[in-house]
Amino acid sequence: MELLCIQSQEHPELPQGELKAVMECEEMGASMEVITEGLVIVKDISSENIDEYYRILTRRLGYTHEVHQIIKTSSVDELNDDIFSIDWQDYIDENFAVRLKRFDSKVDTVAIERKAGSLILEKTENIKVKLDKPNSLVRLVAFQDTIYIAIEKYHLNKRHFEEIKPHKRPFFYPGSMSPKLARCMVNLSRVKAGQLLLDPFCGTGGILIEAGLVGCKVVGSDVNWKMKNGTAINLDYCGITDYRTFHLDVRELKMYEKVAAVVTDPPYGISTSTGDIEGDDIFKEFFHAIYDNMADDAYLCMASPHYVDLNPMMEEVGFELAEQYAIKMHRSLTRIISVIKKSE
Ligand SMILES: C[S@@+](CC[C@H](N)C(=O)[O-])C[C@H]1O[C@@H](n2cnc3c(N)ncnc32)[C@H](O)[C@@H]1O
Repeated sequence: MELLCIQSQEHPELPQGELKAVMECEEMGASMEVITEGLVIVKDISSENIDEYYRILTRRLGYTHEVHQIIKTSSVDELNDDIFSIDWQDYIDENFAVRLKRFDSKVDTVAIERKAGSLILEKTENIKVKLDKPNSLVRLVAFQDTIYIAIEKYHLNKRHFEEIKPHKRPFFYPGSMSPKLARCMVNLSRVKAGQLLLDPFCGTGGILIEAGLVGCKVVGSDVNWKMKNGTAINLDYCGITDYRTFHLDVRELKMYEKVAAVVTDPPYGISTSTGDIEGDDIFKEFFHAIYDNMADDAYLCMASPHYVDLNPMMEEVGFELAEQYAIKMHRSLTRIISVIKKSE
């Protein structure tokens, strides 16, 4: 069985990297096929696993907009016959809408949606069309000559990423990354629900909120006690209870339990103070301090500016790079997202 993921196109690689990381850490027996940017199929899923995988993907992913279960892979020429051949009573709960999304295709969206809707009505009893907030969404996705016929069973909570933007939280301080990127970084760290995740530069807690919502136990620390307290206020506001916060300099970090993941956005640039550590030394000090606090198979996912060369610093401590992504912020700043693990 197959799941169709419609992804954000705001970055060419991060949405796929995030999906791959979630499939890996959740040990999904499935493979991933990239159809085009923004369209990925998770395939070879057994019927026993499909529901669980569907729920995991919709609960975790940040850079994916929609996930649908593919009913049939059709074509422009065979679409009407294929739609008519499906037993829609099995998929639709009282009312439905058909919506088509195109990727590299010029098919007539409105005509196809209407025709598909009328064929489904013809084939079923006691089922109605409801364009606004239907119980069931029949999603058609056209890519070149192929049309995927799919049904949406679980929604991703897209509104969360709007509602939890940094300025909408009770404790605000500039410099917190977007909730979507924070969620993506948590996922890139391959952490699972119930495991312990640390952010030693927690600031206002943006990363810890996303990790807490994924079900992790979270620990945050910051050299600034106002930030430490602010993180706790924001975590409480989001209903996250399994957390601890500490007021401390990253150099003093000594965890009571080795962590399964570290996800962090260290300070850089002129506006953030670094607890009297000069320039790039904050990264060096951070790598030294964090190593012994991480489990041997733990991943570290961190942000840094393009002009800092992390490689010699991480190698000196015994880390190696697993993956890296570049996000252009503006003309003079590219943010680098690195996924790092202990060298074997
Ligand atoms: C870029 S901000 C982190 C933003 C955070 N991700 C958020 O959502 O708000 C970096 C944080 O590192 C903290 N910091 C700076 N130097 C530190 C040090 N030596 N040890 C621990 N925290 C430090 C700052 O107080 C600041 O809150």
